[in-house]
Amino acid sequence: MLKVAPSILSADFVNLERDIRSLSTTGADYVHVDVMDGLFVPNITIGIPVVAAIRKITELPLDVHLMIDRPLRYVDDFCKAGSDILTIHVEADTQENTLAALKRIRENSVKAAISIKPKTPAEAVLPFLPYCDLILVMTVEPGFGGQSFMADMMPKLKQIRAYINEQNPNCELEVDGGINEKTAKVCAENGANVFVAGSAYFKSADPAAFVKALK
Ligand code: DX5
Ligand code: ZN
Repeated sequence: MLKVAPSILSADFVNLERDIRSLSTTGADYVHVDVMDGLFVPNITIGIPVVAAIRKITELPLDVHLMIDRPLRYVDDFCKAGSDILTIHVEADTQENTLAALKRIRENSVKAAISIKPKTPAEAVLPFLPYCDLILVMTVEPGFGGQSFMADMMPKLKQIRAYINEQNPNCELEVDGGINEKTAKVCAENGANVFVAGSAYFKSADPAAFVKALK
């Protein structure tokens, strides 16, 4: 099943409640929340109290994307704040600590996920795949919304789909960055089943039609 996860990075933060409530009326499947610490990526967004506040106003699963250094320090807090899927970056710590963080996430009964940046090869997911419920392949350099889709990520996406099918077929495969009607189609052809869309969703004149087109 194909799923759409609007990224609230492109929402109107003055009217965040309105924008989040509207997601459940457009067929969106997850609420994608981008957390940035100004260290792992050159931008700072929102943190734990905002995730907890969002939790109170939506029934949709919260798909929380941590772009933070050494996430093991904070995964318990983000789970308790109400994440349903919690994604950490493999580049953000040692393999040992990343595995420990994934284990910790699952101990909180939250779905555990890893993400890889554009320069990180497909093989980097292999040590973590048995412990993941979702893998997120970045199709832009993480840090900002509104960037152009990197089509050269498609061979990597396809390779990761093959790993998932062989080793952990229930794992979801998500793409994030520059996703619109056109690029989502290419990603679906290469094995993605969850599409994060920030600017394309929130700039759309008809978000329900946009979600339908992606699916
Ligand atoms: C980028 C974030 C994305 C971002 C996507 O670092 O992880 O989720 O919001 O925005 P668009 O869809 O505009 O590329
Ligand atoms: Zn994201």
